[in-house]
This record gives sequence, C-alpha cells and structure tokens, in this order.
Amino acid sequence: MATNLLLPLLLLALVAGSHAGSIAVYWGQNGNEGTLADTCASGLYSYVNLAFLTTFGNGQTPVLNLAGHCDPSAGTCTSLTSDIQSCQSQGVKVFLSLGGASGSYSLSSTDDAQNVAQYLWDNFLGGSSSSRPLGAAVLDGIDFDIEATNGDFFDTLAQALSQFSSQGNKVYLTAAPQCPYPDAHLNTALQTGLFDYVWIQFYNNAQCQYSSGSIDNLTSAWNTWISSVTATSFFLGLPASPDAAPSGGYIPPDVLISQVLPAIQGPKYGGIMIWSRYYDVLNNYSATVKNSV
Ligand SMILES: *[C@@H]1O[C@H](CO)[C@@H](O)[C@H](O)[C@H]1NC(C)=O
Ligand SMILES: *[C@@H]1O[C@H](CO)[C@@H](O)[C@H](O)[C@H]1NC(C)=O
Repeated sequence: MATNLLLPLLLLALVAGSHAGSIAVYWGQNGNEGTLADTCASGLYSYVNLAFLTTFGNGQTPVLNLAGHCDPSAGTCTSLTSDIQSCQSQGVKVFLSLGGASGSYSLSSTDDAQNVAQYLWDNFLGGSSSSRPLGAAVLDGIDFDIEATNGDFFDTLAQALSQFSSQGNKVYLTAAPQCPYPDAHLNTALQTGLFDYVWIQFYNNAQCQYSSGSIDNLTSAWNTWISSVTATSFFLGLPASPDAAPSGGYIPPDVLISQVLPAIQGPKYGGIMIWSRYYDVLNNYSATVKNSV
C-alpha cells in the first residue's frame, strides 16, 4: 500500500474507535476525593465542575461550599488557584457550578440576576475583585445545577453572563437539568439557546433513568432533550457508583458500553457527565468506560 494512503486510514481508524466523546465530572462535595490537581492529572476528564456556589441571589452574600477541601470564609480556597491553572494548562476546562441539591439560592428580579452575573464575573471569571474566593485563577465558565427555586430570572442570568463573552475570552455556559423534560427549574434558562453543554441527570429520576435492564425510558428522554433544546452538545449524566444515586440510575460499565452509548452517539452527543469525582475514584468508572465514550 502506498504510504500516502496509510496515514488517512490510520486517522480514520482512530476516529472510529474513539467516538470523540468527553467526560465531565463534579468535584468539590467530598473532602476525601483527592485534589483538583490530581483529578485533572488523571487524564480522564475534559471538564470539571466545582461544586457548588450554594448561596446566592435575593440580596444574599454568595457562599462557596467545597466541603472539606477548604474554607472560603477563612480564605483558604485561594490555594486552589494553582490547581485550576494546572487543569487549564492540560486542556481541562474548569467551571463554577451554581446551586446543587441543597442550598439557599433564588433570583428575585432582573436586577438581582444582573447583579449575580456581575458578581460571578468579578469574583470567578475575567473581572476583578479584592475578595476572589478562588484567587486569581480565571474559570472557563458557569454551570447551572439549579434544583431549587422556580427558576425565575435564570434566563436573565444566562443572558447577562453570555454578554461577558464578547469582552474577551468566552464564558462557557453549562447546565445539569434532571432527565424529565421539561426541567422544573431550568427550562426558561435552557430555552435561551445560550448553553454550550447540557449534562442531563439520568439518575434519581425513575421515569427516565436506566432500570431493570431497560434502556427505553432513557433513550426516549434523551431524544426528547436533543430535539427540544438548542445547545452545542449533550452529555449523559450518570452516577459513578450505585451509592452515588440513592434513587437509582446506575448503569454497569458493560451495559453502558454495549447498549446505552451506541443508542445515543449521534451528532449532538458530547460525552458523559459523572457524579462525582469521589465515587469515580472508589468505583473506577470513568477509567473503565473512557475508551468507549
Ligand atoms: C418507564 O417509565 C414509566 C413511567 O413513565 C414507568 O412506569 C416504567 O416502569 C419505566 N420503565 C422501567 C423499566 O423502569
Ligand atoms: C481502572 O480501570 C482501568 C481501565 O480498565 C485499569 O487499567 C485500572 O487498573 C483500573 N484501576 C483500578 C484501581 O482498578
């Protein structure tokens, strides 16, 4: 065979074998999950969501909660600056995740949403503030893991954040809705069409998660999502172990690889999202499935 044909064939084989999907992970809610730097150095992930900014909006002073990793009120989370920069130097994008399953957050008006956007820009993104909780590191974007509130004014927040993109580097917007469509908290925000990546939580939601050997409810919900929301790409959000999702949705690696991924790996597929780094370390889930993602 002529050598000038060999290279294109090799590249084709690589592309066909890799599926070109990525893994996103949540880090921050368990002090025993290892450092952020080690998480990125594992080479498993393309996106890390720092979880969570648990208090914001409605005039409240925002509060970052990174469990046992550091204490924002004592200023010790600024030590994460070098970890964040080390992640970014390896091509891993780092986002701040807003919300979570428990927290004190809501937006009370358009002004409130715009104030929160300005706060996020000044304290975590490309702006400046004397009290940046994570220090000088500039995060790549904001993740909306909104599981409380009625969702009012989160569309305004998305619009206000996206406007900072035009001032320089892109501010990525990502979201983690629950799999029943439409999401109870994020629908108006998602309908802006401004989100880059949408990692849908296919767990703790009986009507759309994998269960009892059936992928039908999952694939049906997946198809509804990708045809109803405009975003760059969609990720299958999964628990890294059965313990990570008390109300179900865990997919054993062999089932994910042989049944679920082949059913969803179409043009809008971006990869998988894993809750969380802590359970991923314990169960070695991402490492086991990575070559098929
Ligand atoms: C699929 O969802 C329906 C409710 O929408 C539920 O009745 C059914 O049990 C689910 N299937 C599985 C296999 O869990
Ligand atoms: C995790 O899975 C990878 C890929 O299968 C394997 O190479 C590695 O040894 C596993 N690690 C542990 C701790 O089991």
